[in-house]
Amino acid sequence: MSSERRRGTGPLKLLVAVSEMVPYAKTGGLGDVAGALPDALLRRGCDVRVFLPCYRIVRERTREMEAVLDKVRAPLGGVSLEASILETRTEQGVPVYVVEREDLFDRPNLYGTSAGDYYDNLERFAFFCRAALLGCAAMGFAPDVVHCHDWQTGLIPPILGDLFPEAGSVFTIHNLGYQGLFPADRLPATGLSADRFFHPEGVEYWGRISLLKAGIVYADAVTTVSPTYAEEIQTPEFGMGMEGVLRSRRDVLSGILNGADYARWDPVIDPHLPARYGPGRMAGKARCKKALIREVDLDTHLEQRPVIGVVSRLDRQKGLDLLIGILDELFSLDVGLVVLGTGDAGIEEALRAAGERFDGRMALRLGFDEPLAHRITAGSDLFLVPSRYEPCGLTQMHAMKYGTVPVVRATGGLKDTVSAYDPGSSRGTGFKFFEPRPRALLEAVRLAVSLFERRDSWERLRKAVMEADFSWDESAARYMALFEDLRTRRQPFRSGSGRPPARRSSTEP
Ligand code: ADP
Ligand code: GLC
Repeated sequence: MSSERRRGTGPLKLLVAVSEMVPYAKTGGLGDVAGALPDALLRRGCDVRVFLPCYRIVRERTREMEAVLDKVRAPLGGVSLEASILETRTEQGVPVYVVEREDLFDRPNLYGTSAGDYYDNLERFAFFCRAALLGCAAMGFAPDVVHCHDWQTGLIPPILGDLFPEAGSVFTIHNLGYQGLFPADRLPATGLSADRFFHPEGVEYWGRISLLKAGIVYADAVTTVSPTYAEEIQTPEFGMGMEGVLRSRRDVLSGILNGADYARWDPVIDPHLPARYGPGRMAGKARCKKALIREVDLDTHLEQRPVIGVVSRLDRQKGLDLLIGILDELFSLDVGLVVLGTGDAGIEEALRAAGERFDGRMALRLGFDEPLAHRITAGSDLFLVPSRYEPCGLTQMHAMKYGTVPVVRATGGLKDTVSAYDPGSSRGTGFKFFEPRPRALLEAVRLAVSLFERRDSWERLRKAVMEADFSWDESAARYMALFEDLRTRRQPFRSGSGRPPARRSSTEP
């Protein structure tokens, strides 16, 4: 058997390049996915290694990091800069390589401040992409496949062929709303030649550079995080201007549903809860509710009434303005509301005003607070996710594991993970509304509240909700099948009977 052949059948070598990862650095669901999927792939026999930028928080949080490469040089806009590569490992043993370069990554936040994105995000992430590939090469790790996530790693597919002509690339879209747009005159920072790449079939997007588009156009396979979102983004309503590009790649575009990370989100073992519980032993959930009501200062009579939880980025995507629009009617149902979130200043202000007006019935916590997110998820009866669009959404899956019934807008992954409660058959795992309008949301909440008042039906629903299983195994198997398929398809290039597609090299004339 040739050495190529043996390489093709051994453990699949996967490089993951990602801009956030639990437990090192997180701003949202991308961090959760990157924290769980590599471990699940390792369990399936994949030789997986992750590259992550060394933000200040990574340094602060990670005690055990060892320098593995002292001086990797990577180009940035015509100059060559040095970075160090430090190694740590996940609990399951996946190597995580952090790219350390203080002037680019040693900052208070990952992507920017409340005043806006960091002005040099193009340079920061272009450098990260190149340093990750060059770091791999320097350690002698030649990946079969590179898995890239969102615009921050969108530069990898067009440049991958320069260093690893045999490797395949998968680009996963977690959110089409973040397109990595930069002025055209900054193209030199990417190292891409204008002639070959800056045109409508390449990285140009209405006169600007889009690193999201770079990933979509040049990757061998494109995935997104739920089957429904994979369909939605090919339409003008959800495509955010990228629908044409996405349709042109529909033969390689698919949706693989995210899993939930039950090592971190399970009420049986959750260290953040005042009491633990699980199916068949639910007393702890009542204690969590009581403790939450006290913690956030809601009226104590709400112990007997439905408490609604929200944990969300405060962004237009998440549809919280729909909730703000129905607060009078909502509180006339005698419910409590606990909101944890941070983000858009206008949404924060509107929520703050509402919180003052409905003191005792509504509690607002502005900020990013992981332990509190767990306590709200456990201590609420209903969990609200009224998103305008939602590529997957993890909070509804977490809520379900905690026996907290989801009320969601039927879009993207919310549509795929929650099945609507049917009063006739008593089947379903939550409440859904379709139109992104306050009235539609209110009707769904009304239905949920009326069911809460029928104890037996409510208990049955809660049981069904807790039985829903979104563990990573099945989704990891789908990713593995995709990676294996790419490796097999690229096999001819290895044995010399074919050539990698010409579009893969960024340096050819
Ligand atoms: P998105 O990635 O669009 O923000 P997801 O539902 O996929 O939405 O993931 C959000 C993740 O971030 C969840 O783990 C959720 O618990 C967490 N999260 C969101 N906002 C906060 C917050 N203010 N404090 C703590 N955790 C939060
Ligand atoms: C994005 C999406 C969210 C998804 C997460 C992880 O942030 O907004 O729906 O769950 O990525 O894929």
